[in-house]
Amino acid sequence: MSETNRSGADSQPPIADPQIVSNQVSPIGADAAAGAPGQDLSSLQKQGERYAPAEAVLRRAHVPDFDALRQSSIADPETFWSNQARELEWFAPWTEILQWRERTDAAPPQVQWFVGAQCNITANALDRHAREGSARRNKVALLWTGEPDANGKIAERAFTYGQLLRRVNQCANVLKGLGVQAGDRVTLYMALTPELPIAMLACARIGAVHTVVYGGFSAPALKSRIEDSESKVVICTDIGYRRGKVIDLKGAVDEAVRGLDFVQRVLVHRRGDTTLDESRETDFDSALDAASSECEAARLDSEAPLFFLYTSGTTGKPKGVVHTHGGYMVGTSYTHRICFDLHDDDIYWCTADPGWITGHSYVTYGPLINGATVLLAEGALDFPDAGRWWSVIEKYGVNIFYSTPTAIRALMRFGDEFPAKYDLSSLRVLGSVGEPINPEAWLWFHKNIGHEQTPIVDTWWQTETGQFMIATVPSYPTKPGSPGKPLPGIEAAVVDKEGREVEPGKGGFLIIKKPWPGMMRAIYKDPERYEKYWTLIPGLYAAGDVATCDEDGYFRVMGRADDVMNVSGYRIGTAEVESALVSFPAIAEAAVIGKPDPVKGESIKAFVILRQGHEPSDELLQQVKQHVREELSPIAVPGEIDFVPSLPKTRSGKIMRRVLKAKELGVEPGDISTLED
Ligand code: WTA
Repeated sequence: MSETNRSGADSQPPIADPQIVSNQVSPIGADAAAGAPGQDLSSLQKQGERYAPAEAVLRRAHVPDFDALRQSSIADPETFWSNQARELEWFAPWTEILQWRERTDAAPPQVQWFVGAQCNITANALDRHAREGSARRNKVALLWTGEPDANGKIAERAFTYGQLLRRVNQCANVLKGLGVQAGDRVTLYMALTPELPIAMLACARIGAVHTVVYGGFSAPALKSRIEDSESKVVICTDIGYRRGKVIDLKGAVDEAVRGLDFVQRVLVHRRGDTTLDESRETDFDSALDAASSECEAARLDSEAPLFFLYTSGTTGKPKGVVHTHGGYMVGTSYTHRICFDLHDDDIYWCTADPGWITGHSYVTYGPLINGATVLLAEGALDFPDAGRWWSVIEKYGVNIFYSTPTAIRALMRFGDEFPAKYDLSSLRVLGSVGEPINPEAWLWFHKNIGHEQTPIVDTWWQTETGQFMIATVPSYPTKPGSPGKPLPGIEAAVVDKEGREVEPGKGGFLIIKKPWPGMMRAIYKDPERYEKYWTLIPGLYAAGDVATCDEDGYFRVMGRADDVMNVSGYRIGTAEVESALVSFPAIAEAAVIGKPDPVKGESIKAFVILRQGHEPSDELLQQVKQHVREELSPIAVPGEIDFVPSLPKTRSGKIMRRVLKAKELGVEPGDISTLED
């Protein structure tokens, strides 16, 4: 990437013009709640109305009066959160609930929750349920199902809380044996099998810090994350399965760790017949089988790091978001329980990959702390056919189903006949996350999956927030396309650049006013990037999203305010794709924008300038796409690439992506006074 471009990336002004934010194709607003033309809405409520929960939902509600709870929590959020914390087990109590130090010119902001307390998140996720006398000891904690094989056979596995604790302890002992100590980092690059949460919990058990890398990232992307976190040990699965194909994960690890001397061991969970190099690799299952199943949870400071998770920002380098044990366990378990109205007999299924924050907070930690039965399903949503997920819901009697708008839109396209074939009556609560859900998809979900009975909880949050921030609880009326209101203990608002709240219905920056327990504590090795969340609008946490808040207090997120795209719910920085593009020898410069896409939310479009001596061709186009696939990830490959002679730049040489975007969408580009040409 050219220096001008790289240095400019983080300092691009945010796009505050709601006209040019992402979701133009499906405008979100009460008026749009009428859904797609031609859709039969006769059995649904009129447009613009709220959807009230059914009687059966109200009867089981954990939070019967959401507004009252929100109000009382805001009056005294610290007491509110300490009450939630008392629901959990601590080895030693806190001396202070919250310590918040605002940023100064000399130091970034610093936050500590439950100061001085000692705890371990796994003591709450495992020991509390698995100990003698607990009713949950023999309850199924993890229920796993594989993809159907060529003969239609489906593998299944289950771990009770007792079994899970023992397996986690074995894994923890193996890590200790490999020299992993509290504070050391361990990178996980694994398929979606029970071994992934087991490895995460094992790290947490001994105070090591896990960094899970999504299996869809390619070797160079994996390498940069292993390098940044300086992981001593890497844990991987040799292969994964998707749409009947074998995904070679171990091959990517081999390539990624080459030359990284600080990586001392690779622990390989083998599903295939992969041979290991015993000088640096260890077989996961046999090592665990030989290890003791006793391992006390390390007594850790409340603020001890639990994990890093890399997420895209506005530079080419992903940020290592740091979360800690104490506050995070309080924030995730509380929000998981109230937003899904979790009860002990529930089967809970979140379709997220554990490589993303949702897989951390709402597949692994939140649900296990709450003693839930968590379903994990490997494979694609449309294999062997588009009824796959509905068949899983029927087979296991799933009660709570949590997924993404992209998945819902994709499934909707296959037609109503797929869900109609299955008994989905076990469903009680539906959830959505990762991007704005357009009312058309919302209504389809409501009608065809929820049969107009189950509330849809749309949860707005981020890798950085760690926990749900804006959502509703099942007993509270919803509006299609709106995540709802700030949850109890959270104060959010929509403000202008000066931090003044805007009028109802007007667009502005989504901000959070006060610290919350699950919030990130740092960006690993990058205090400047951490600080930035509080400097855009001084003193307030700016999420980087553009939003509105209506007269009734319902928020609507319209998209990102910065150069981050949301493709199928995956955050991808334009600068990351640009970096991958300009590392291709024939490319001199590149600019990338997100374009509205009816299924993926956004699709990636690239504009590239070729180096002298290279001519545009279909072959070159394919090579460029392949290059991005290998450098970064298949999800980051631009759908469209235009070869252009020049790019719009400011006089100081920064590429003005918003000008490209406005031109692409046929809207006014806003202020172009700094445009060079
Ligand atoms: C977007 C995913 C609208 C938003 C949990 C946010 C949403 C970014 C929603 C964080 C939602 C997430 N409605 N937009 N319910 N949930 N987003 O870190 O732009 O991968 O800033 O966390 O996704 O993405 P991340």
